[in-house]
Amino acid sequence: MAYSLITLEQTKSPISEAYRALRTNVQFTSVDSETQKIMITSSGPREGKSHTVANLAVSIAQSGKSVLIIDADLRNPTQHKLFGLDNGEGLSVSLVQDQDYRKYIRETAVPGVMVLPGGPVPPNPAELVGSKRMKRMIEEVSEQFDMVLIDTPPIIAVTDAAILAQEVDGVILVLASGEVNKGYAQKAKDVLDKLGVKILGAVLNKVDLKTNEYYYYYYNSSDDSKKKYKRHKDR
Ligand SMILES: Nc1ncnc2c1ncn2[C@@H]1O[C@H](COP(=O)(O)OP(=O)(O)OP(=O)(O)O)[C@@H](O)[C@H]1O
Ligand SMILES: [Mg+2]
Repeated sequence: MAYSLITLEQTKSPISEAYRALRTNVQFTSVDSETQKIMITSSGPREGKSHTVANLAVSIAQSGKSVLIIDADLRNPTQHKLFGLDNGEGLSVSLVQDQDYRKYIRETAVPGVMVLPGGPVPPNPAELVGSKRMKRMIEEVSEQFDMVLIDTPPIIAVTDAAILAQEVDGVILVLASGEVNKGYAQKAKDVLDKLGVKILGAVLNKVDLKTNEYYYYYYNSSDDSKKKYKRHKDR
């Protein structure tokens, strides 16, 4: 099976369990600070940001909450593919044409998960995601949904994610196991630290299940403890 909405297709798998652990942690950190608007990013491309957003959203919805995914990776919108939606219109169109974003929010096959697709790739993504309209929209939707998850491009290469990070309650950094360059990962963290953004945690993704053990790490920056959530021996 292609790695996609595993939380939907294989609810009992260790990976789905790992997403539930991530959900619990995100909800746990929200007790004090009402973490509700969360941005997901990574240092480099293809580390698994979009899949993390989609599976975390499904997992949150499975716990009975409403979730809106905003696909703010206007350079490479992906959420519509994961949920089988049309991307002819979406966030980019609503921002460029000053249209009401609400008419582009789509229901998905997963009860509780709504998606605002990225829409056609615009020439000026950073300008659009940094616009006042975008800021206003994020504020508004946070009152309508229990949780808002924002998918973004890699934070080092372009400014979009750094701009958006300032509009959310916290950020999750996705790191691709074995692929991520340590220096880049540190740089991503430095960028967020400099902006004063709260890093809710880091997800170590793409751990090779064929090797002896599979670990899912969630690093909770608020209590400085590294928790190992899943240890799955090779069968
Ligand atoms: N845990 C995983 N195990 C195996 N493959 C994965 C995993 N997570 C993601 N992938 C694969 O890695 C690729 C990139 O995933 P995804 O699109 O989620 O990454 P991304 O960080 O959003 O990429 P981009 O920077 O292009 O937006 C996809 O082909 C996806 O199927
Ligand atoms: Mg992506």
